[in-house]
Amino acid sequence: MLQTMAASNLVSQTPTTLPTKSHQLSSNPFSVNPILRFKHKPISRSLTSLQARVLRAVLSTPEPKTQNFQHCFTKSEDGFLRCEGVKVEEVMEVAEKRPFYLYSKPQITRNVEAYKEALQGLNSIIGYAIKANNNLKILEHLQKLGCGAVLVSGNELKLALHAGFDPTRCVFNGNGKILEDLVLAAQAGVFVNIDSEFDLENIVAAARIAGKKVNVLLRINPDVDPQVHPYVATGNKNSKFGIRNEKLQWFLDAVKAHPKELKLVGAHCHLGSTITKVDIFRDAAVLMVNYIDEIRHQGFEIDYLNIGGGLGIDYYHTGAVLPTPKDLIDTVRGLVISRNLNLIIEPGRSLIANTCCFVNRVTGVKTNGTKNFIVIDGSMAELIRPSLYGAYQHIELVSPPPPDAETSTFDVVGPVCESADFLGKDRELPTPTKGAGLVVHDAGAYCMSMASTYNLKMRPPEYWIDNDGSVSKIRHGETFDDHLRFFEGL
Ligand code: LLP
Repeated sequence: MLQTMAASNLVSQTPTTLPTKSHQLSSNPFSVNPILRFKHKPISRSLTSLQARVLRAVLSTPEPKTQNFQHCFTKSEDGFLRCEGVKVEEVMEVAEKRPFYLYSKPQITRNVEAYKEALQGLNSIIGYAIKANNNLKILEHLQKLGCGAVLVSGNELKLALHAGFDPTRCVFNGNGKILEDLVLAAQAGVFVNIDSEFDLENIVAAARIAGKKVNVLLRINPDVDPQVHPYVATGNKNSKFGIRNEKLQWFLDAVKAHPKELKLVGAHCHLGSTITKVDIFRDAAVLMVNYIDEIRHQGFEIDYLNIGGGLGIDYYHTGAVLPTPKDLIDTVRGLVISRNLNLIIEPGRSLIANTCCFVNRVTGVKTNGTKNFIVIDGSMAELIRPSLYGAYQHIELVSPPPPDAETSTFDVVGPVCESADFLGKDRELPTPTKGAGLVVHDAGAYCMSMASTYNLKMRPPEYWIDNDGSVSKIRHGETFDDHLRFFEGL
């Protein structure tokens, strides 16, 4: 209560200056000492794909229509799931507890490199959307790889600074940014997107409190249908995000009226998430550069186009050809160059989702009516996307089932007291034995960051595997004692 009051009073007080960069925790609670060091074994998947390519080259047969699915988690011929050559089953044996999240650090690097290559020849910022995954160790890694950060709260901003992100490569977004967070943003010197009339007023107030001019972009809602689940569509005309083009003049006049507080540097849009057609980005970029022309025509020297994030990934693991970062950038490259713009992109999912599996143990198998269930220790509390959006995330066992295991259709469910508690529906899987390992793939984005402690299922630990096959913990699992701490002294 006292803390809440103190926070809301912040605006009327002189704000304390924000420390700028490279804050290290005084004592690092995250042990990154490798807990496991496996001999790195080459994955037979890469040999097979290489052999296939050589064979195709020799026979001069065309590449197949589907992509040869390359993933850091691969099942080799012996039936064991490996991550960067390490058996997931072996990690399960040493993990602090289950379920847990397991990442490939090299895959994170590869995903960033793909964007960097795609952006060659353009002035650009890769703003990693922290909401997708806010693990501090992952943020530090992304920052070292040269990413900026995209933020939606004061705490995300503080964490980004803590992880060492350069504030001049960070963007503060959101339709409900509160004044005290905007003051932090103004002090830190990050880009701020104007989302509404009241947001503009608050940014002006924050600039005055911080005594700093804020570099702002106008978040324009281009009304382009991203063809995704309605919960992750953001650029339609009835969306709660951004401003409508018919109000553009009002915003330009308001910015002009506050030359001491605001410097308009660009325009931003974000269409939605899980987008699998790059034409959609192109359509929006065409509209956006037209707005930029109009804004420049009124005397503003703006040179940033921010096209948001939203590129989808192959959740289905069917090898379907999905647009790559290069496809995305190539579709807007000409427009960006034609207007001599700096390009900001805000990827979350396409940088981090495929780097991680959510690793569980099977508690048991049961049948009710016509339904078979695999009950696991993980649940909607740790991974809510299937329950919330009906999202598909691929599921498989980590080790070969017994030879006589019958394959059936199962719902994979958790122990949480909700019928919506499922990780997958109608999955063809071999009947697992009690205690078998089972993973939910592509769990790097919007899984741990959306986890709750419903039913007092404490948030799970996280690990990553490095290039040399070593496994390190990158976040402790929460404990019951952590929970009791919220009540200490009350
Ligand atoms: N920029 C803005 C302004 C955004 O709103 C978002 C995501 C991103 C960038 C990053 O989008 P990405 O590249 O990750 O698609 N919880 C949902 C996703 C919500 C996305 C919200 N905004 C899910 O689990 O699919």
